[in-house]
Amino acid sequence: MDYQQKISVPMSLPDITDEERAAVAQVMATNYLSMGPWVQAFEQAFRDFTGAKHAIAVNSGTAGLHLCVRAAGWSDGDRVITTPFSFVSSTNVLLYERITPIFVDAEPVTGNIDTVQLKAAVEDLNRSEASAAKWLPPKGDHKGELKGIIAVDVFGQPADYDTIKEIAAPYNMPVIEDSCEALGAMYKNRPAGLLGDMGVFAFYPNKQITTAEGGLVVTNDDKAASIIRSLRNQGRAEGDTWLAHTYLGYNYRMDEMSAALGTIQMKRIEELIRKRAQVAEWYREELSDIDEIELPHTAASTTRDSWFVYVIRVKDADRRDEVSQKLKALGIPVRPYFSPIHLQPYMQEKFGYEPGRFPVTEDLGRRGLAIPFSGKMTREQIAQVGSSLRQIF
Ligand SMILES: Cc1ncc(COP(=O)(O)O)c(C=O)c1O
Repeated sequence: MDYQQKISVPMSLPDITDEERAAVAQVMATNYLSMGPWVQAFEQAFRDFTGAKHAIAVNSGTAGLHLCVRAAGWSDGDRVITTPFSFVSSTNVLLYERITPIFVDAEPVTGNIDTVQLKAAVEDLNRSEASAAKWLPPKGDHKGELKGIIAVDVFGQPADYDTIKEIAAPYNMPVIEDSCEALGAMYKNRPAGLLGDMGVFAFYPNKQITTAEGGLVVTNDDKAASIIRSLRNQGRAEGDTWLAHTYLGYNYRMDEMSAALGTIQMKRIEELIRKRAQVAEWYREELSDIDEIELPHTAASTTRDSWFVYVIRVKDADRRDEVSQKLKALGIPVRPYFSPIHLQPYMQEKFGYEPGRFPVTEDLGRRGLAIPFSGKMTREQIAQVGSSLRQIF
């Protein structure tokens, strides 16, 4: 193999035009760098785009998820079900509130939470402590009531919310939708973000739209929206003066530069999603004849896939790291994706998890490789990735 032939394809790239640059520059020329009109315009853009009654901008997806957990009223010792096949934030926000995350494994096709196992877990956890035991973390004392579910829309595809909500309904449990990777996706023609009781988007530069750092909560629930608005702003309730704080809150506010950038990005959302879908289609054309890898699968319920990353699976798990190293040597950056949450060092330390506990998540984690992806990739770059993979196999 010719390792000398270096080709450079960025892992991801934000798609920024002069209009975004001008909007940010315009903010800089005013005295309103925070709590001004752009955050309101950004929130309006999300109400228009998703049809949500409330949209609340925050300074990261993690902050948005944390506020949803607070608005759900979950706290110390409660049990909440989530998935180990995700970015760490969807579990961390539970740990911030000393809630026990109860993991349910992923299903192997999309990587979203397995609803057959979810149903069994919800029933077992509500039946008796003896039947609950098999779902609890191996280490620690985890007494508490099951209070809700955080589902994750993995890689831009919504989880199966009709089933998830049907499972949660008899117990009146709120469902939080971590849609940080799925802005613009459609589930049975309904927009991602509004599929649970509260939904969260994120805008790091590799996302469908970016605000540099940022996030946003959407919900139709008036009470939750009011709590989230207050807590993002240091716990000031409506009518509180600057130094009055009705609740324990945070500074999770989005700034005006980010909101200006995001508002212009939202004007281009359809174009941005379309460009990413085109790149995903080019990858399919380019890579579908390589027998050693599996390509992403779009579920029938996903009536619009909003491509966030392009994750291939190396069929032979033992070869994944070799493939990864060789691609890197050829100038193609790649990332193992996701790395199972339950096997992160702090999770193993706190909860005593060992490999083998969530076999689907671990298998996807061992075989998954995110390859370069953004709406700015050219057909030529896709061909470079394809020929590098062919060269390796
Ligand atoms: C599934 C998921 N949840 C939450 C987040 C957190 O978003 P942020 O990085 O804006 O805090 C991300 C970000 O990558 C994500 O992919």
